[in-house]
Amino acid sequence: MCGIFAYAGTENAVPLLIEGLRSVEYRGYDSAGISVIDSSGAIQTVKRGDHKASLENLAAAVGDGQLSGGVGIGHTRWATHGEVNQKNSHPHASTSGSVSIAHNGIIENFLELKDELVDSGIEFVSDTDSEVLAHLVGRSVANGSNLREAVISAASRISGNTAVVAVSAAEPSIVVGLRVGNAGGIVVGKNVDAAVMASDTIALLPYTCEVIYLEPGEVVEIAQGSVQLFDLEGSATKRDPVVTNQNFEAAKKGNHPHFMSKEIAEQPEAIQGAMRGRADFAAGTLSLPEISLTHDQIMAIDRVVLTGMGTSLHTGMFGASVIETLARIPSVAENSSELRYRNPVLGSNTLVIAMTQSGETADTLAAMEHARRAGAPQGVILEMEGSQATRVADFTLGVRAGQEICVASTKTMIASMTTLLELAIFLAQARGEIDANHVKEIVGQMAELPALVAKALDLNGEVTDLADRLAKYEDLLYLGRGPQLPIALEGALKMKEIAYIHAEGNPAGEMKHGMNALLGPDMATVACAPNNDLYPKMLSNISEVKARGGEVVAIVTEGDGTVERIADNVIRVPECPELLQPFMTLIPLQLLAYRTALALGRDPDKPRNLAKTVTVE
Ligand code: F6R
Repeated sequence: MCGIFAYAGTENAVPLLIEGLRSVEYRGYDSAGISVIDSSGAIQTVKRGDHKASLENLAAAVGDGQLSGGVGIGHTRWATHGEVNQKNSHPHASTSGSVSIAHNGIIENFLELKDELVDSGIEFVSDTDSEVLAHLVGRSVANGSNLREAVISAASRISGNTAVVAVSAAEPSIVVGLRVGNAGGIVVGKNVDAAVMASDTIALLPYTCEVIYLEPGEVVEIAQGSVQLFDLEGSATKRDPVVTNQNFEAAKKGNHPHFMSKEIAEQPEAIQGAMRGRADFAAGTLSLPEISLTHDQIMAIDRVVLTGMGTSLHTGMFGASVIETLARIPSVAENSSELRYRNPVLGSNTLVIAMTQSGETADTLAAMEHARRAGAPQGVILEMEGSQATRVADFTLGVRAGQEICVASTKTMIASMTTLLELAIFLAQARGEIDANHVKEIVGQMAELPALVAKALDLNGEVTDLADRLAKYEDLLYLGRGPQLPIALEGALKMKEIAYIHAEGNPAGEMKHGMNALLGPDMATVACAPNNDLYPKMLSNISEVKARGGEVVAIVTEGDGTVERIADNVIRVPECPELLQPFMTLIPLQLLAYRTALALGRDPDKPRNLAKTVTVE
């Protein structure tokens, strides 16, 4: 939800904090700020609450070299409590200004704590919940605690999930970080000249690729060349760093105007990443050594529950469809924020599969923890290996798409779909639902997938004209059936989140049960109708829309000569085996949303009111 970066070392922290914040800015970009301890030992804070311009304005404000110091913290904000403005931007200072903190998470009992602090004479300068932390830490430091003790004591007073970093003028060479629960991770690393911490590994890569992911309930103290871990009792603990597989270059835009266009274009490679070391195209076999389930456990599975949020939920819906088709196990996908609160029936025979790009989504983690308590075996399909979700799950299937920066998820979805297809094949084969020949046939089909997706990406040109037409609508309807339903839902979500056009995804069979009342010239319909058994049904739905004067965009298979007689606009995706059709129809829908966002002058990488990693409910 927010991005944190902290530095302690030999160089001037100011430009390094700005650079660090650039790497985590995608997590929140309403506001930005830094605090550094200057050569006189005082904490200097500069912040901006200028919406998307915040970080650039902050960089300009500190770019003259006037401000310097070897230790500092920085923050990019995604507002939860208090509007977007300079006073609500982080870092927040204690009353004396001798402590400064940056915070990620929600302090659920903040009103109660605020009353207590106000009663003790403290004046608040912001509307945020986070400011209570600054005052709690400041008060403990004033009473003689060191910074680490003060941060631990403040954390013991708050309820809710929290990640916080703090500096104190009394200890000018260190930064303390603390994580409680799942409010976004903190990852720490060092080299001889510096130690750094951030909410995302990518910000650490210019310094080191050996990192430590803070566990919930861990505290860290960094100083030049030193990282020390503690528990919430303040006792020192020890853990070896892990070598991260993330790549700094991957987080740059290259020649692309936006991260979104880069990430859409990277999808053939993302699919390859998800198949690497798993699908053996020469032998026609597939192995998933990461899956730690015994044969007996696999045979005992009587239900698969897939869970996630947003795009990850749609990915899970695709997964449920393909697992049920191939492995013949009843499978459902459910929104994690619902699953976590409705006391679902889960047990040792339910396989739970979570999908999450970040591995940090609060609702998804809560649903996973629920599944763990219920004794359900569980796997997670994710991009960010090392994130909290990997520690909750029994096994992790990394999708290996490469870091996704754009808020709207694209390449992670396609790589996760590939991984779910692999999981479906694995389960089907292990349970004897498909034999080695059938596996060989599907693996052979999958070998073509990167090239097929690359071909679908050529539709970019066609989609551009269409985007200009769709940009004129205020309402769009997306229709699909069977495995095309999650794609229709995803197409609508993409359009909503980056073009800000109201778009609804619906099962095409639902139309007569309510949606038809909205049909007419004011609403265009995007229908996913590739060549399969459900195609005739989709043609009827398209005709229904046309009969009521609505414009139709039909996404069909190349060679289709029928739909053009009914639909206004036709996009033809490459022909492929039916199992792979959702991969084909997904591409033009992503492109359509991207191009429509551009036609409307929106910034697709930084959609309003959204952030990449949703670490609060
Ligand atoms: C939409 C999008 C979001 C995420 C959702 C879950 O483009 O990116 O809907 O899919 O916030 O995030 P993860 O996958 O990180 O759990």
